[in-house]
Amino acid sequence: MLPAYIPNSMAAVFGGGRPIDGGRTLKDGRRILGDGKTYRGLFAGIACGVLLGLLQMALLIPLSELLRISLPSFSDNGSSTLVILLSLASGSLFGDMFKSFFKRRFGMKRGASLPLVDQLDFVVGAWVFTYLAIPGWFTTYFTWDIMITVLIITPLLHLTTNIIGYIIGVKKEPW
Ligand code: CTP
Ligand code: MG
Repeated sequence: MLPAYIPNSMAAVFGGGRPIDGGRTLKDGRRILGDGKTYRGLFAGIACGVLLGLLQMALLIPLSELLRISLPSFSDNGSSTLVILLSLASGSLFGDMFKSFFKRRFGMKRGASLPLVDQLDFVVGAWVFTYLAIPGWFTTYFTWDIMITVLIITPLLHLTTNIIGYIIGVKKEPW
């Protein structure tokens, strides 16, 4: 999940500048996505997710030997590492954007809290993209028990990292 997690944090660190919706509003008078979704955040986030995944691949064998467990590989039966990493990283931020679109339609301002949805949007986005791009790889590694574990652990991790982000000043709200 790391290549899906890190784009969110790095979007908060590197984000800013031109919003993806270009400042446009829909007929309801509300922003399409809002100022919290920017090109810089999107591209820096995806790049960081892919880079982290490549680093994990470089460490896969030494770490597996050190920890004596078999770690998942971002490559399987010839499926491309880059496709897997791009799906995880971009799916994560597209899930987040999809959520922002609906938050705006419900009249929620940028940064307004939507419990559980804010904590799981990027997980679902990453899974949908990865399942659609490489179903065989996805079902090999994301078994039901793993998915349930991720759904339980992620909100806790997300809350912890967001509080850190709030304290160091890259997040406007601690959620
Ligand atoms: N960010 C960005 N581009 C993205 C995603 C995030 O620049 N594609 C940055 C923004 O600075 C944003 C911060 O990361 O404020 C935190 O992201 P998030 O919590 O998803 O955005 P919110 O500001 O809470 O906006 P929303 O209500 O739309 O979720
Ligand atoms: Mg938010």
